[in-house]
Amino acid sequence: MVKFALPAGSNPVKGKLHKNETGATNIRNFHIYRYDPDTGGSPQIDTFEVDLDICGPMVLDALIMIKDKMDSTLTFRRSCREGVCGSCSFNVDGTNTLACTKPIAEIKGDVKIYPLPHLPVIKDLVCDLSHPYAQYSAIEPWLKADTPPPERERLQSEEDRAKLDGLWECILCFCCQTSCMSYWWSGDRFYGSAVLLQADRWVQDSRDEAKGERLTELNDSYKLFRCHTIMNCTASCPKGLNPAKAIGHLKNQVARRE
Ligand code: FES
Repeated sequence: MVKFALPAGSNPVKGKLHKNETGATNIRNFHIYRYDPDTGGSPQIDTFEVDLDICGPMVLDALIMIKDKMDSTLTFRRSCREGVCGSCSFNVDGTNTLACTKPIAEIKGDVKIYPLPHLPVIKDLVCDLSHPYAQYSAIEPWLKADTPPPERERLQSEEDRAKLDGLWECILCFCCQTSCMSYWWSGDRFYGSAVLLQADRWVQDSRDEAKGERLTELNDSYKLFRCHTIMNCTASCPKGLNPAKAIGHLKNQVARRE
């Protein structure tokens, strides 16, 4: 039988226990992935005893409190704190989600926080998003039109505008993209669900005049058709969007042209 081994350093080991010595009684354990490229070695899972009585209700509130009061070296991205910027995406309690909109109360027992899966880790919970952003850039996410612009603006009917609902709301947090097994195995060439949802946003825009060119670019057994409708993307989107439906629409559009 073939035996597979994880590459050295990819298996997290038990880390440090950060005890709460204040006598607090409403304690919850947060197990958090730590990795510091400067010290090398295996990543570790540190445990923080968080006093929920002095912590805000969301997972991000706990991370901010841990950084403020328990370990200032804990590294993670965040900005808006209201589900708009997409920077606080982590794997929380086994599911990719936004820490700022995930209530601690929804999690039973200890809280486990890991970086988004299958992306290179820069430090602690910060992943390297260069590759997904390069893929996003490859779909040319801007309005393309050869028709000279009208004096004021390119108009759109209400019906055509409504076709963009469910697409424009994507905040590029990559929760969906990194929950997809096809993206784990073939992410070097498969565009992934967030990027394809964005591609559909431009294909569906009545003002864009490059639909044919966009579909030709996507007609590829990896870029688009490596999606096998596993649906993890739709299940994990913290904004309640449906990337699988957008991908289905793109596949349909490509097939209709042939
Ligand atoms: S901090 Fe902006 S989405 Fe969470």
